Amino acid sequence: MIRFLKRWFAGAKDADGEDLLSKVRKGPIPRHVAIIMDGNGRWAKKRGLPRVAGHREGMNTVREITRAADELGIEILTLYSFSTENWKRPREEVDYLMRLPQEFLHTDLDELVRRNVQVRMIGDETHLPDHTRSAIRQFQEATRNNTGLILNFALNYGSRDEILRAVRRIIEDVQSGKMDKDAVDEAVMNRYLYTAGLPDPDLVIRTSGEIRISNFMLWQLAYSELWFTNVSWPEFRRDHFFRAIEDYQHRSRRFGAV
Ligand code: FPP
Repeated sequence: MIRFLKRWFAGAKDADGEDLLSKVRKGPIPRHVAIIMDGNGRWAKKRGLPRVAGHREGMNTVREITRAADELGIEILTLYSFSTENWKRPREEVDYLMRLPQEFLHTDLDELVRRNVQVRMIGDETHLPDHTRSAIRQFQEATRNNTGLILNFALNYGSRDEILRAVRRIIEDVQSGKMDKDAVDEAVMNRYLYTAGLPDPDLVIRTSGEIRISNFMLWQLAYSELWFTNVSWPEFRRDHFFRAIEDYQHRSRRFGAV
């Protein structure tokens, strides 16, 4: 309850009294925001809690930021939830993370449907446990026809893995005569990535102080704006999110031109 009240107060007003949401609404809204949700483990450790407690609190932040993105009219929110490298973590932590989609399904599906959110996933589904895949499938089926925010979970996702998979499939299609080698351009590459059909992220946020990309959407981030904060993911609030958007609104995006 106390945590809930803290979350509510933190999100209510900007320091200068102006509602941050209405302020940000006046500027250009990024179509696609991608987030590297980092710092769950450190957040938990600082409180003498097991690392998984950080992931649990992180799930609450997922809910809060999804609501905020929806309110702002963002089209796509991509969340880096489990990387291809995260399998190296202790077994109990991996098991816990793999159970989160199922739990999120029980707690949040109704609200997501009500909000017209479409849930998607990018990453290699084949190596996920059955219960995780089943939760994702249920999310996808229940929200398939929704036309609002696309909530895109990157699960068992690695960008190098994604690029290699795309290259292999392009080679197969060239060798089988389905496609001409000279027709392979950026647009073709985009079609073979997990993110096919989605615009590249306009803004990438990484929490918890690390200034790196960690194998996340390397192809898609070519011209994205980057925003880093020392705030850990479990402590990240809608106000932090709106501040990131506000900062984005003051950037001058030239895409290599002058
Ligand atoms: C990185 O923090 C975070 C993760 C590897 C997992 C993120 C997952 C969630 C926030 C929940 C996602 C929710 C659903 C429904 C899929 P870390 O553990 O690496 O933190 P540390 O760097 O402090 O150790």
